[in-house]
Amino acid sequence: MTELAIIGGTGLTSLPGLSIDGREDVATPFGKPSAALIRGHFHARPVLFLPRHGVAGNIPPHQVNYRANVWALREVGTRQIIAVNAVGGIQADLVPGTLLIPDQLIDYTHSRRNTFFEDELEHVVHVDFTEPYCPTLREVLIAAAREAGLAAVERGTYGVTQGPRLETSAEVDRLERDGCQVVGMTGMPEAVLARELDLCYAACVVVANAAAGRGAGAISMAEIEFNLESGMERVRALLVEVLKRGM
Ligand code: HPA
Repeated sequence: MTELAIIGGTGLTSLPGLSIDGREDVATPFGKPSAALIRGHFHARPVLFLPRHGVAGNIPPHQVNYRANVWALREVGTRQIIAVNAVGGIQADLVPGTLLIPDQLIDYTHSRRNTFFEDELEHVVHVDFTEPYCPTLREVLIAAAREAGLAAVERGTYGVTQGPRLETSAEVDRLERDGCQVVGMTGMPEAVLARELDLCYAACVVVANAAAGRGAGAISMAEIEFNLESGMERVRALLVEVLKRGM
């Protein structure tokens, strides 16, 4: 049984170095996941990989079927999920290419299916979400980043916006006042759905651009894609180190 899964975000639709053992289409009560689950070995360790935005990278953040993705991973035996997300840097020193392991999030998304607990319930369920990320898996990511000499930022608050548009500079000002250091569109409801299924979930976010109003002028997709290329190289180095450590 493969216990560790990686959900790749923008810029990480495949995992070079992954030797693929098979692809698994998993049907769920919530519809189809973003893609067939890729089962493989990464540096001799079994791992599952799921590209959040689909194989072609064409499912926008607000249309990702987060419930199907998380359910499908649990269905095939996943117990830990490492999520990789592209973000904008709000805090000035979080320059493009920076890796950050968030310890908190603020959810600004709306109209997304954000729970498994809504139909045919015997009683109402409120999961604890005080610490939205699994502390054990966060520690593994932090230790792996140190070991790999990646200088990842070891905590921070991830503001999750609805998208798919980027933010206004006033919205980024508000996020900063709220205490967010980075902003992205895919951290929720993925994290809470994993919690609802009792999975150990942590994220590594990659700064793709200075958030709106924090850099020089408008943000372009070309800039995001360019910065993510080198950022994702660093994520791969991190994942190799995580898997070396026996996760
Ligand atoms: N905002 C929201 N999501 C993002 C950004 C951003 O600036 N960059 C990459 N994903």
